[in-house]
Amino acid sequence: MNKIIVSNALNCPVCEADLGVQGNSLLCERGHCFDIASAGYVNLATAKQSGGGDSKELVAARTAFLSAGYYERFADAICERAAHYARGGIIIDAGCGEGYYSLRAARAAEAAVCGFDLSKFAVMAAAKAARRQGIDAAFAVAGIFNMPLKDGCADAVMNLFAPCAAQEFCRVLKVGGYLIVAGAGEHHLQGLKGVIYDNVTKNETRADLPNIPSLCLREQARVRYDITLRRHEDIMALFSMTPYFYRTSEAGRAALEATDRLETTVDFDIFVYQKV
Ligand SMILES: C[S@@+](CC[C@H](N)C(=O)[O-])C[C@H]1O[C@@H](n2cnc3c(N)ncnc32)[C@H](O)[C@@H]1O
Ligand SMILES: [Zn+2]
Repeated sequence: MNKIIVSNALNCPVCEADLGVQGNSLLCERGHCFDIASAGYVNLATAKQSGGGDSKELVAARTAFLSAGYYERFADAICERAAHYARGGIIIDAGCGEGYYSLRAARAAEAAVCGFDLSKFAVMAAAKAARRQGIDAAFAVAGIFNMPLKDGCADAVMNLFAPCAAQEFCRVLKVGGYLIVAGAGEHHLQGLKGVIYDNVTKNETRADLPNIPSLCLREQARVRYDITLRRHEDIMALFSMTPYFYRTSEAGRAALEATDRLETTVDFDIFVYQKV
């Protein structure tokens, strides 16, 4: 568990007091105690939040797809920004999933990174990946609308394909700190949609982008390129990561089941806001 994160960023989720490491636990002065699991993560979710987030199967599919490298160019674009806006600082990855981007950002920005996600399976995978890669980060099960973090502790918050809790991100950012948000661009996965739908329409821009006066839009960028998936498993893993997985007809699903080569555009919108 990264010591900079524990001492400078984390708060007790019950009483908001400081947390310290004691043995294999995080402990606050009032005695609230959170065990660090053997995989290296801690559960700081409230009872109401527990059990939420992505399933074990979805986490496994996303891990397999991301580790095949299809989103590497997008990850590079995120890392460039993490390094530019928060080098050597504290970065919170809100809705971190398996830490694919958190760990890359930690390396690129030489930063102390803390990832939160409601999915225990995702956080466990992230902590294990950090250990495997020798990266000293911190991962915790926690909801991102109410993070166990001190006010103004973060140099940057990353929020990639996860719900955007703008007010909460603003609370935990230092004045002058940055929020890096990413979502699907208008042509994202057009090729995949072409297999499962008769009429392919453009994606809408994310509807939950920050709209509060204290977060000022400083940069907007687009990363767009074509990928070719040559394995059926990769195609199905990608499909299971999309919202279409839950709203595709039997015919669309069958068409994809019969596909073992897929060319598709990937298209990402990146927005960088500064707390003023
Ligand atoms: C589409 S995934 C993106 C994960 C990661 N950022 C990535 O791009 O690989 C969205 C993640 O947000 C998490 N999530 C959804 N709602 C959340 C919430 N309220 N608090 C914390 N995590 C949440 C899910 O468990 C899931 O891991
Ligand atoms: Zn406490």
